[in-house]
Amino acid sequence: MNKDLEKILALQKEVERYNYEYYTLDNPSIADYDFDTKMKELEEMEKEYLNNNPQEDRDIFQNSPSSRVGGQVNKSFTQYEHGSPMLSLSNTYSKEEVSDFIQRAESLLGSDNLEWVSELKYDGVAVSLNYRNGKLYRALTRGNGLVGDDITDNIRTIRTIPLELRGEGYPDDFHIRGEVVFPHSAFEKHNQERIERGEEPFANPRNAASGSMKLLDSKETAKRGLDCYFYYILFDETQAGSLSELTHYERLNKAREWGFNISTYSAICLGIEDIMEFIDYWDKERHSIGVDTDGIVLKLNNTKLWERLGSTAKSPRWASAYKFKAERAKTKLVSIEYNVGRTGVVTPVAIFEKVWIDGSWVRRASLHNSDFISSMDIRLNDEVYVEKGGDIIPKVVGVDKDSRSPDSVELEYIKECPECHTPLIREEGEAGHYCPNYNHCPPQILGRFLHFISKKAMDIDGLGEERMKYLIDSGLVKDFSDLYNLQEEDLIGLGNLKTTIQEKGASNIISSIQNSKEISFERVLFALGIRFVGEVVAKRLARHYKHIDSIINTNYLELVEVDDIGDKIALSIVDYFSKQENLNLINKLKEIGLSFESKDESLGNSLEGLSLVVSGRFNHFSREGIKKAIEDNSGRVVSAISQRVDYLVAGERMGPAKRAQAEKLGVRIISEEEFISMIES
Ligand code: IVH
Repeated sequence: MNKDLEKILALQKEVERYNYEYYTLDNPSIADYDFDTKMKELEEMEKEYLNNNPQEDRDIFQNSPSSRVGGQVNKSFTQYEHGSPMLSLSNTYSKEEVSDFIQRAESLLGSDNLEWVSELKYDGVAVSLNYRNGKLYRALTRGNGLVGDDITDNIRTIRTIPLELRGEGYPDDFHIRGEVVFPHSAFEKHNQERIERGEEPFANPRNAASGSMKLLDSKETAKRGLDCYFYYILFDETQAGSLSELTHYERLNKAREWGFNISTYSAICLGIEDIMEFIDYWDKERHSIGVDTDGIVLKLNNTKLWERLGSTAKSPRWASAYKFKAERAKTKLVSIEYNVGRTGVVTPVAIFEKVWIDGSWVRRASLHNSDFISSMDIRLNDEVYVEKGGDIIPKVVGVDKDSRSPDSVELEYIKECPECHTPLIREEGEAGHYCPNYNHCPPQILGRFLHFISKKAMDIDGLGEERMKYLIDSGLVKDFSDLYNLQEEDLIGLGNLKTTIQEKGASNIISSIQNSKEISFERVLFALGIRFVGEVVAKRLARHYKHIDSIINTNYLELVEVDDIGDKIALSIVDYFSKQENLNLINKLKEIGLSFESKDESLGNSLEGLSLVVSGRFNHFSREGIKKAIEDNSGRVVSAISQRVDYLVAGERMGPAKRAQAEKLGVRIISEEEFISMIES
């Protein structure tokens, strides 16, 4: 295949994964800005490819994420089409980009005295409400922009949303769009309640608002204190009489009269200077209003001009968003905690006076190592600047040295392990200190067990941090092999009041431990927790050496010849297997029946040359499992349906849109059973 095309398909797949994580899983793995950059890159690559290859089918990218308005549709509510697509906004990140946007509109319209409405961009969940004859008729989530979930019952519980309209002059049938938000006070209260019930608190108000809209029990939604701000009205311009003559600003004022919650923080701006003033003001003041905002939105006030400018497939040309920069807050460094990880590495952690940044309270941030502390010259009681990175992990980005008291002293890094008091070691060329007391330092032992049972390692369920600690402290487990000798009686009643293990729980834990004997060699190798042997290296070792005995008997020079294995890793592996106690542990685990040998996974070729899309849920496979089965049988997994796809494997509850698309393009739809018989044949 053409190299450019290959690159485009790979990027489409990547962007589509981000879409899925963001929209369907509600669990984004990259920052908005990075996503937008990737998307722009994809759009440009596709455009250039079509220009350079005029013979290519013009529809070749019709299923690319670049052609989508949104992401996947959630399937647990009834779905309905939006009257008109729920578009999003083009984003700008600098004042220059804002200015470019304004100038483009001005030159398209041939006018330089346009009115712009500047509004706050509320950071929550977009919803679209349909009112018929003055009554709330239906509320939909954004979904994929074309089809959304019916969340009317949840929407009805939001007190500020009118169920029946006041006043007069509203169209018989219209849609109004807004953002459901979790006000900070209600968010804090709700998270506190979750913690008290032993539930995981939400990371930020946006996730919490989104989670609340997806609840099937609207009684629960009602308790949460959500709010909703509306910002856009859609109606049939030919039927709405005088309303269609009004500007955007006037329409919002009307909607306020009908009972909608319309933000009062918007303004009519007459040019770029007014707009910049609005941005500067709200960049500072946005923290004072008790709900999250992530930017400002500019909309052309004259609605007659909306039609003239029109929209792209994704966003209108008469509106755009300016995104605020990552927020930086100043707070006091109260103390430093030193955490000891499973490999003995010590990580200093700054403890602050709590401070609200980008949607949540921040109380701590990693200071990485002693080099980081000395390069910043961070001292106790300093005022420090904290930011949330794109990965939403708080970071100390600076120190306000001017406000430092004259008697402040340089920070002295600890010399002993804070847990077991063994003198710390710092090796040549390494930034971090570590505690060498491998066998007796409590957090190292606990950390190793938690790593051993983790999902990506032995995948043993039911034993969290607290329970594992009890097992270790009570002497029931000393090394990994002891886990396999546990009996249900050992577990029942273990823990404090909140975490006490009951009979059912104990039996589940024991069977999960026993099932872990099936885990592959590469994961067992990873689970051992050898320093610097992560998933990739473990896989590499297992594939290269095939048997634990070959790894035990190898040497440094052989190891560094293996791909992905450098000096540091090789030394660590040799060191691990030179210790008798580790060899004893491996012998015990061998006897128990853990895999210490690569199974020769003979790969099939029944799907050779075929491209398959999978959708929905399956009975015999997990989502990842079916993809692996395709790849193990020499097939290709493709994320979007196009004419090049050979089969769509349809699981339960597959979205109707996917089926329709496959039918339209003549892609064969097969059931899970048909798929199984294909790979078994
Ligand atoms: S206008 C066609 N105005 O930001 C007009 N959107 O990417 C579409 N949002 O999907 C939206 N505050 O969820 C608009 N004052 C505001 C907004 C706003 C928040 C959200 C909304 C939209 C997204 C744009």
